[in-house]
Amino acid sequence: MPTTIRFLGHSCIEIKTGEYNLLIDPFLTGNPMAPCSAEEMNPDFILVSHGHSDHLGDAVEISKRCDATIITNYEIHEWLAAKGVKSHGMQPGGGFNFPFGRVKLTLAFHGSSLPDGSYGSTPVGFLITTKDGHTIYDAADTSLFGDMSLIGKEGIELAFLPIGDNYTMGPDDALKAVQRIHPKKVVPIHYNTFDLINQDADLWAEHVKKATDSEAIVMKPGDKIDL
Ligand code: NI
Ligand code: MN
Repeated sequence: MPTTIRFLGHSCIEIKTGEYNLLIDPFLTGNPMAPCSAEEMNPDFILVSHGHSDHLGDAVEISKRCDATIITNYEIHEWLAAKGVKSHGMQPGGGFNFPFGRVKLTLAFHGSSLPDGSYGSTPVGFLITTKDGHTIYDAADTSLFGDMSLIGKEGIELAFLPIGDNYTMGPDDALKAVQRIHPKKVVPIHYNTFDLINQDADLWAEHVKKATDSEAIVMKPGDKIDL
């Protein structure tokens, strides 16, 4: 069974690996780019990179309906636990072996307040190694940072990088990130959802093609790729 990736708009990514279904940053309700509704999702695990509503999204509702465990930072885990939501708290640099594979939280430079103003601690990215051996890095919302080179040393098969600018890396820094991470494949995320983050992803992919050995794949919401 291959590991299958489906892009669901903005930063929402579905990963089917083995018998498990993962959902990252499930912002579907209110997301103008979402190709499907939160009610259609049926994950076993939900990964939440930080507390902002365009990432936490529908996580609470989906978790309760599907009995899915939310993997996130420790402070968001505590906020979820107080609501009776099943979650697993971690911190940057920490990894844990889940039934589908290993997740390590990576650094991300951004904010992380929760929708009710609660403290959401430091935002994170995800380094995921599936049981069938695929290594996926989702940088989530972040600036460019030099230690992406260290993440690249893990041997990244597929990277998700924000290109939207304003709130995260823009196209130029995302290209520099590709040059530090050296992923086999890279998919741009976090753009065109709102006017403030409009970008030409096809042009960015051309720049990646010219300047790196990585294959840039522009996924439209709903598109799938097999690893
Ligand atoms: Ni954010
Ligand atoms: Mn965001």
